[in-house]
Amino acid sequence: SLPVDSVQALASKNLKNIPSRYIRPEIEFEVVPIDESQQIPVIDMSKLDHGDEQKKLHQACKDWGFFQLINHGIADELIAKMKIDTQEFFKLPMEEKMAYAQLPNEIEGYGQTLVRSADQKLDWNDMLCLFPLPVPLRNMRFWPTNPPSFSFFEDEAQVIRMNYYPPCAEESKVLGASPHSDAAGLTLLLQVNEVEGLQIKKDEKWVPVKPIPGTLIVNMGDIIEIMSNGEYRSIEHRVVVNQEKERLSMVAFQNPKVGTEIGPLADLVKTKKAQYKTMSLEEYLILRLSGKGPGMLNQMKL
Ligand code: SIN
Ligand code: FE2
Repeated sequence: SLPVDSVQALASKNLKNIPSRYIRPEIEFEVVPIDESQQIPVIDMSKLDHGDEQKKLHQACKDWGFFQLINHGIADELIAKMKIDTQEFFKLPMEEKMAYAQLPNEIEGYGQTLVRSADQKLDWNDMLCLFPLPVPLRNMRFWPTNPPSFSFFEDEAQVIRMNYYPPCAEESKVLGASPHSDAAGLTLLLQVNEVEGLQIKKDEKWVPVKPIPGTLIVNMGDIIEIMSNGEYRSIEHRVVVNQEKERLSMVAFQNPKVGTEIGPLADLVKTKKAQYKTMSLEEYLILRLSGKGPGMLNQMKL
């Protein structure tokens, strides 16, 4: 059984008052008004063999840690199929989804973010998390057979997470995802429906990301910040929810191969002193997964 209730099941009760474990009075929900200069940069993958676009990419990774990727080469049909499969999965009856439920203290499968203490605030989110790579760790027990076309995954992603954020009567008091930076190398995010919610922290303010249809949102995870010796940034972000609309997203976390040393690249410590420790991917994951949200990267700092 799940350590916490399904948020989707909870939302379907149409409660006027949301249980207190989801309510975050302390959170600053104010968002900066958006103008062009505050939009995350757009990178055109079809132009990445040109120096100009490469410079733009380098700058985006340094200044923002986030960008929207256009002309990414993933077929429209595949994207459409991933979106439909994600939506269809969360529409399945609860009993059917529960066949893929997480085991206690495991993140893989259908369920919620790990709950580490009784006073931890809960995210307004249900998810399906799968580990497609490396292939020997692929656990088909968690892979839905319904919708029948579910096996859309290519061999390029290692952890895939599908998120379902139900509408919430108290939208300005709960969070779909608590502030965090990603543990991964690179994160690719697909907005499954057109509902906004992702916000990134820029200059101490929360900036909403306005998704451009057809783009993938890309962000640097902690591993890239470490390997680039702090040149590229792993930015704190969070998800807010919506009073009327459900929101769905699909995230692919790309990690280096097992056996990779996680630490600043040799070339980069020639000109600047190492800012982070070096450790094996396994040690890194143990340290990272034992931590609690923001500030984790600091434990890696020298
Ligand atoms: C996350 O960063 O945890 C989720 C991002 C999203 O749903 O937009
Ligand atoms: Fe994230």
